[in-house]
Amino acid sequence: MYRTHTCGELRREHIGQEVKLSGWVQRVRDLGAMVFVDLRDRYGITQLAFNEQNAGLLDKARSLGREYVIQATGRVVERASKNPKLPTGEIEIQVDKLEVLNKSEIPPFTIEDNTDGGDELRMKYRYLDIRRNPVKNNLIFRARVTQLVRNYLAEQGFIDVETPYLIKSTPEGARDFVVPSRLHPGQFYALPQSPQTFKQLLMVGGLDKYMQIVKCFRDEDLRADRQPEFTQIDCEMSFVEQEDVLQTFEGLVRYLIKEIHGIDTGPFPRLSYDEALARYGTDKPDIRFGMELTELTDSARGRGFRVFDQAEYIGAIAVEGAAGYSRKQIDEITKWMQRPQVGAKGLIWAKYNADGSIKSSVDKFFDATTIKDWMEKAGAKPGDLLFIMAGERQATQGHLGILRMEMAERLGLRDPKRFSPLWVVDFPLLEWDEETGRYHAMHHPFTSPKPEDIPLLDTAPDKVRANAYDLVLNGNEIGGGSIRIHDQDLQRKMFRLLGFSDEEAQRQFGFLMNAFTYGAPPHGGIAFGLDRLVAILGGRESIRDFIAFPKNNAGRDTMIDAPDRISDEQLKELHLKLDLPED
Ligand code: AMO
Repeated sequence: MYRTHTCGELRREHIGQEVKLSGWVQRVRDLGAMVFVDLRDRYGITQLAFNEQNAGLLDKARSLGREYVIQATGRVVERASKNPKLPTGEIEIQVDKLEVLNKSEIPPFTIEDNTDGGDELRMKYRYLDIRRNPVKNNLIFRARVTQLVRNYLAEQGFIDVETPYLIKSTPEGARDFVVPSRLHPGQFYALPQSPQTFKQLLMVGGLDKYMQIVKCFRDEDLRADRQPEFTQIDCEMSFVEQEDVLQTFEGLVRYLIKEIHGIDTGPFPRLSYDEALARYGTDKPDIRFGMELTELTDSARGRGFRVFDQAEYIGAIAVEGAAGYSRKQIDEITKWMQRPQVGAKGLIWAKYNADGSIKSSVDKFFDATTIKDWMEKAGAKPGDLLFIMAGERQATQGHLGILRMEMAERLGLRDPKRFSPLWVVDFPLLEWDEETGRYHAMHHPFTSPKPEDIPLLDTAPDKVRANAYDLVLNGNEIGGGSIRIHDQDLQRKMFRLLGFSDEEAQRQFGFLMNAFTYGAPPHGGIAFGLDRLVAILGGRESIRDFIAFPKNNAGRDTMIDAPDRISDEQLKELHLKLDLPED
C-alpha cells in the first residue's frame, strides 16, 4: 500500500495515528538539527519532520531534491509552529521511514502557485504546470462543470451519442483540417468543425433529444478565446420551436451558475441582433454595465462639421466620471482605437465638467447648448466624458462597441464574479461577402429562415431573419444554435442562394437532403463552447487555462512538438508529394 491518507487529509483529530503518505517533494528546509519537507499531492501539502534522533533518516531527508517522489511513514503529531494558511497546518508527520520512489531532475520552473516560469516554458512542460494549484484546480473545475452538464441533460432525457471524427470536407464555415486516406489514394477525410449534419441525421433517426460533449476542429486564426481543437456541448431536439430550445438551455445555464456560484440570474434578457448592434455595437454585448451607445446622427449632422456631415451614422458613449481625463490620456485612448486591429479613424471627445461647463474637441463647430443636448441624450452627467464617433453605420457602431469594452476594462466595470447572460435572437439569415461576391450563411446553411420572412428569399435575401440565437455571457459568445430547415425544397433553395449549383449541393450534402425525403421531423438545437463556458464561469477569459494540453498562438503543441513532418515512407503510403516553398 502506497498511502493510508492523502496529503490534504490529516487534521488535529489524527494526532497519534501511524500514517503513510506518498507524494512529491515541494520544498526541503534544512535547519541543521531538523529537516522539514513539504510533501505535495493533488489534495494538498503535509509537512514531514525529521530530527536528530535518527541521524541516518535526517541525512536521507536532506538529500531529497525538489519533485522527488517519496513515501513517508510516521506518526501524526501536533506542530510547534502552526500554519493557519494550510488546512493541514496544525499537524506534521514525525517520519520514521522514508523511501524514494522516484528521483527528479531539477524542474525548469518552480512548481508553486506563483511560478517563475514564462508561458512558453510552462507549455513545453505542461505536465509540471499541471502539478501547480492554479492549473490543477482549473482542470478539476472543468470536470465539475462537465459533470453538472451531463447530469442536467441526462435528467432532461438527452441521449449521449458519439458521431464520427473522420468525415468529409465541406466548403462552409472555417477551414477544415484534412486527413489523407491510405486506402483511397488522392482522397481525404476532414475532421468535423462540429457534428452539425450528424446531429440532424440523428433527429431523422428518431432519437428526439441528443447531446454530446465533443471535440471540434477548425483551422482558423487563434485568439485568446479560440483553439484549433475545442470542445462543444452539442445538442439537438425534435419537435421544437425556438422558444422550446431557449427555455431548455436557459435552464441549463441558470442551473450551472446556481450550482457553481449560488447565484440565481433570473430569466435571461433577450435582444434582437439589430438592437444589440444599436445599443452595444456588438452581437455579444457585455451587459454587466451600461455605457450604451446613443445615436446622435440627426442632431449632429448638417451643421457644417465635415466629419459629421459626411457620416452615415454618428454615435456616442458617456463614460462615467471620466471628465477629469487629461489630454494625454485621451490621446492614448485615441491611438489605441486607431491601431490596425481596431482601425478607427478618430475620436471626438466632450467633457461635461463638474461645474456644468463644457469643453470639447469640436468647440469650434458646436456651441455648449448643442453639446449639452448630446450629453443629455447619452445620459451623461457633470463629471462624465462623452466619446463621439462618426462614419459608416455598422463599422462605427462596432468601434464604439470596442471603445465601450475598453473603457469598462479600464474602469474595472467587468466584474468576473458577476454573471449577466442574455440571448441574442433574430440574426440575419445571410451576410453578403464582398470578396467572393456572394451570400454566406451567417450561422450555417441548415438554419431555417423565419417562416414569415420566407417570401423575402426571392426579393430581398439580405432582409431575411433566421430562427437563430446566441447565448452571450459577460461579453462572450458561449453558445449558438438555430431551428433547422427540415424541408428538402427549402434546403435546396438555400444552397442555391449560397451559390451552390444543384450538382455541387447534391455532391456535398446529398446525404442530408436524401434523409429529408424520408420524414425529417421539425428540429433545432444549440452548441456551447465548453472551454469558453468553463473559463467564464471560472472568472477568466483565456480558454487555454482550462485546457489540459492547449496549442499556442501559432497553433503548435510545443510539448509534443506538433505539427511535425512525416517520414518519406508515410508520404509514399499516402500517395502524397510535398511541394514546399524554398526556405
Ligand atoms: P458555432 O460555430 O456557433 O455553432 O459554435 C458553437 C460554439 O462553439 C464555441 N466555439 C469555439 N470555442 C473555442 N475555439 C473555437 N475555435 C471555437 N469556435 C466556436 C463558441 C460557439 O458559440 N453546429 C453549430 C451549433 C448549432 O447550430 O447547433 C455550431 O458549431 O462558444
